[in-house]
Amino acid sequence: MRRSIAVHAEGAGVRTLKPPLDLDVIRQPWPIERADAVVCINMIHIAPWSAAEGLMAGAGSLLPPAGVLYLYGPYRRDGRHTAPSNAEFDESLRSRNPDWGLRDLEAVAELAGRQGLELREVIEMPTNNLSVVFVRS
Ligand SMILES: C[S@@+](CC[C@H](N)C(=O)[O-])C[C@H]1O[C@@H](n2cnc3c(N)ncnc32)[C@H](O)[C@@H]1O
Repeated sequence: MRRSIAVHAEGAGVRTLKPPLDLDVIRQPWPIERADAVVCINMIHIAPWSAAEGLMAGAGSLLPPAGVLYLYGPYRRDGRHTAPSNAEFDESLRSRNPDWGLRDLEAVAELAGRQGLELREVIEMPTNNLSVVFVRS
């Protein structure tokens, strides 16, 4: 999709966006020197757990103190799905790939904490999604 993103940005006359990066979160180090924030939407449940590990390692080393890592997506909480639709979605993901699936928010927060990313805020969003905000200490 990187070519499509670049063409759309150019077509819309957007000059403030940098070209999209070839960034596989698992591959360390990431091909970027600095960032004020990292935004990751609907990724960690549609990728193996190693992608969540890579995301936290990459964001933890890239972000400056007080830098924000923002995640959006569906999560399990306290070992349970938060809605029947999320349970069905989880099942369909796992049937496509057994390494995919909704993550436990607590496990994600623990992983983040090991990389110096503190869980700051969890905001309930429409259709049983969450905004999850981490801040680099
Ligand atoms: C369901 S799509 C979400 C796309 C977009 N963020 C959205 O919400 O519309 C999942 C995205 O995760 C990305 N992804 C999966 N594994 C990844 C990895 N190891 N590194 C970087 N991105 C990855 C895919 O390239 C894909 O763009």
